[in-house]
Amino acid sequence: MEILPNFIVFEGGDGTGTSTQLNLLREKIPAPGRRVFLTCEPTGGPLGRIIRSVLGRELELTRETLAFLFAADRQEHLYGQGGVAALCREGAIVVSDRYVPSSLVYQGIDCGDELPRRLNEGFPAPQILFYFELDPLAAMERIGKREKKELFEYREFQEKVRQRYLDILPLYRDAGVEVISVNAARPVEKVAGDIWKVIGPLL
Ligand code: TYD
Repeated sequence: MEILPNFIVFEGGDGTGTSTQLNLLREKIPAPGRRVFLTCEPTGGPLGRIIRSVLGRELELTRETLAFLFAADRQEHLYGQGGVAALCREGAIVVSDRYVPSSLVYQGIDCGDELPRRLNEGFPAPQILFYFELDPLAAMERIGKREKKELFEYREFQEKVRQRYLDILPLYRDAGVEVISVNAARPVEKVAGDIWKVIGPLL
């Protein structure tokens, strides 16, 4: 597995706080200093927007088509204009809310292992992978406070999500990725502190 240096990803089930932590990180980043980019998947690009309309149940596509869309959105995210791969190779730090592991986990549950594995085998692994560990029941309680539930935001699915992350994380670790589990049940500032301890010194 090729590792893309300087690439850091946040992974975890829905409601575990990956997006919240990316926003908190944004506030901490010093203006001068090393170049750093914060991003997410699905992206804000055209393919990401289609994906979001499927997640929001405004558009119905087959689960296999959705797996292709996540991979296509990722291809553009990495190798399109201003893509993550070039930035990282030029020495910038890039932090993404979700990446390949999300497809292996979510589409793995939805479509079986083979399709997401095949669609994602060419992408490099991140240098650092933060896994947000939180009991799916607690995560779903957090989501319950939001107004609209998305496609995968229900407890039975999230139990499987957690199990699948626990299954794939050792594979990343064995491949040389720095896998860091964070206890996401604690207050957001505490979680942010743990993340900053790792990312801060890199900037
Ligand atoms: P999420 O990252 O939680 O964003 P938001 O906070 O805006 O809801 O939502 C993205 C959803 O898409 C989440 O349920 C995980 C799912 N997903 C996949 O199924 N496969 C993927 O490859 C990616 C990147 C996300």
